[in-house]
Amino acid sequence: MSTAKDIFKKHQAQTFPLPSCLEVESAKGSYIYDVNGKAYLDFVAGVSSCTLGHSNPIIINAVKNQLDNYTHVMVYGEYIQSPQYKLAALLADNLPESLSCTYFTNSGAEAIEGAMKLAKRTTGRSEIISCKDSYHGSTQGALSIMGNEEHKAKYRPLLPNCNHIIYNDNNSLNNITEQTAAVVIEPIQGATGFITPSNNFLQKVREKCAETGTLLIFDEIQTCYGRLGTLFGFETYDATPDILCIAKGMGGGMPIGAFIASWEMMNLLTFEPKLGHITTFGGHPINCAASLACLQHLLASDIMQKVDEKEQLFRTHLKHPKIKEIRGSGLMLSIEFEDEELAQKVVEQSLENGLILFYFLFTKTAIRITPPLTISEKEIIEGCKVIKGILDA
Ligand SMILES: Cc1ncc(COP(=O)(O)O)c(C=O)c1O
Repeated sequence: MSTAKDIFKKHQAQTFPLPSCLEVESAKGSYIYDVNGKAYLDFVAGVSSCTLGHSNPIIINAVKNQLDNYTHVMVYGEYIQSPQYKLAALLADNLPESLSCTYFTNSGAEAIEGAMKLAKRTTGRSEIISCKDSYHGSTQGALSIMGNEEHKAKYRPLLPNCNHIIYNDNNSLNNITEQTAAVVIEPIQGATGFITPSNNFLQKVREKCAETGTLLIFDEIQTCYGRLGTLFGFETYDATPDILCIAKGMGGGMPIGAFIASWEMMNLLTFEPKLGHITTFGGHPINCAASLACLQHLLASDIMQKVDEKEQLFRTHLKHPKIKEIRGSGLMLSIEFEDEELAQKVVEQSLENGLILFYFLFTKTAIRITPPLTISEKEIIEGCKVIKGILDA
């Protein structure tokens, strides 16, 4: 008889030759439980997605209430639906005036696609610049600006006129010119293992964009909704984008993304031609209700204020001779090891010991720590002990 694993491997499209195949039964708080009842402390949170932990009653109730009212009623942008406009308004209340208008999508990649189109439409230019080694999603537009040729080569031709700067390299900023429609950049570069900006790099990119009439797009798909201790990463680094892309953590575990700009810019998608950017399910009312509840709770609680303290706790409890460096900021941290083999061993053995860690796309010597923001101090210390125990052994 086929097992769940056989069926998963045979009938469900695979992304990776060796998935962990953890068979999930349920999840609550900072823990995921498998079908055998084993508990796993989750240091990954669905890759920065489960902001308030698993099965948080705040999210569950928001989803249930919305389910009782209505689910999908019409394509995006036609009917007035309260979860959508209330979320858009609360986002605007917590963003500068230049970021007052939100377009909801289903995912991060779609937010990037929309932002790229909006930048072309606004500037009348076509060149998009991103960073070498960046990841912005797997759809063809987002893939076109990915900064890693190995992942792109087999899918060419992609979008023309996509060029790069190097993250944290001031000299490369000269590539941004009056031909450039937009620069797309993550406040913290994700796929390379959470590289943080140095020497005010983001502000320098901001200045260069202003000088050349280029729009600055921040990919805050991982940093949004408090992961760095501020609601958005740009607040931490004091450089405001023209277009803000968010997703992942904004849904509190439900699938939603958004690109956000000024009303004047967004309005360009409405005319000549009409329907310049459309989606059926973007901003699904259930997902907007979840995102609204998540945002309201983040704003009303001290969860974001505690992020710094929790970061320090990780840094204190992860001191070990085999750990080369702890990178990143807030609850977006990476552990850098001497070599790939050790990084892989730690991820695999942690799972055996009931702790979930995960890899990065472009670096093999680091592992990610992006727990729910609600993780407790006790859980942080407990998980760090597991990692150090493996390293000692
Ligand atoms: C920085 C960044 N941008 C974009 C994306 C794409 O988001 P999604 O997987 O929701 O399409 C991701 C996903 O990992 C990401 O980390």
